[in-house]
Amino acid sequence: MTQALREALRVVHPHTLPGIRAAAASVRRGGAALVENVWTAAEASAATHAVVGRPRGLLAGYIGGANPRSMRTDNTFDVGAPRSATLLQHQELQYLNTSVRGLGLWCPRAEPGAVPTLLSSTRNASLRVEPTDMGRRLAREGVMYTRWLPTATSPAPIYSTWQATFGTDCRHTAAGIASALGLRCAWQSCGGVLTVARCSAFERDPADGAQLLFTSMADSASWFDSWPGLAHLHAAHSQEELATGTFRPLQMFYGAGTPLSPDDASCLTDAHQRETLPVDWRSGLLLLIDNHRTGHGRGSCSSDLARELRVVLGATFKRSPPPILPSEVHEKN
Ligand SMILES: [Fe+2]
Repeated sequence: MTQALREALRVVHPHTLPGIRAAAASVRRGGAALVENVWTAAEASAATHAVVGRPRGLLAGYIGGANPRSMRTDNTFDVGAPRSATLLQHQELQYLNTSVRGLGLWCPRAEPGAVPTLLSSTRNASLRVEPTDMGRRLAREGVMYTRWLPTATSPAPIYSTWQATFGTDCRHTAAGIASALGLRCAWQSCGGVLTVARCSAFERDPADGAQLLFTSMADSASWFDSWPGLAHLHAAHSQEELATGTFRPLQMFYGAGTPLSPDDASCLTDAHQRETLPVDWRSGLLLLIDNHRTGHGRGSCSSDLARELRVVLGATFKRSPPPILPSEVHEKN
């Protein structure tokens, strides 16, 4: 699989109709493709949607996403992370019960030597994780993603507010959007909300039915390890701690609510990051990614070299239901 991904990245397709068709074949075969001479947001959106489909519903506006990001033009979104933050390998929208089949990363402007995007094979990551106790537990329980979303007037350090995440100032509307996204909400007296999503840790590759890992530590407190203004906060060990608003605002647990041990967390991160392939950016380049088969991330942008990226989402799909837990069986009986 990594060899297929390596080969997919070796060819840069022109931004022409035959080039887009070749890029679509590359995404199907290798999990990614590169297209050059994409100069406008409208071109980036059209090319991405032609290859990996068009999002529908709330995710068409990136409503409910984790990072605070704003729509620029023509369905392109900011990356929504500070330059100095390392972004762990992840699959886009892995923390919701609806995700995307693919995405585009478009570079309107980059100086030579700017930090590359790193791609990784989720098939390889799956092969490393599945035989471990952690992998078996992920398969058995799924994952629970929790987020603390303070209100916009909170004096505490803020990652994203519920107003920014759900695109509304109305709490009633926000609760409706959260429910539509499968998020359980626990509103707090301070005006913030704790959201909880239980998800499967694996998804079937629609192309060949292979079971692929669809989770990573990117949606845990580890996301903030190098995040200015948030890195100094501690990781929450429970939903109750997270709801105090004084911990790092994301945490993930095994599906039944137990935190991953430090060994399990580093094993999961290593599975994704042991082997990555860099994509060096230049202006006008569009990277198309199969979100099932290929993870993405990046190191810290430690230099001042300009690097602007925008995200374009592809077709949405309904995630596999999370595994039923023994406690839920008892509740039903
Ligand atoms: Fe991403």
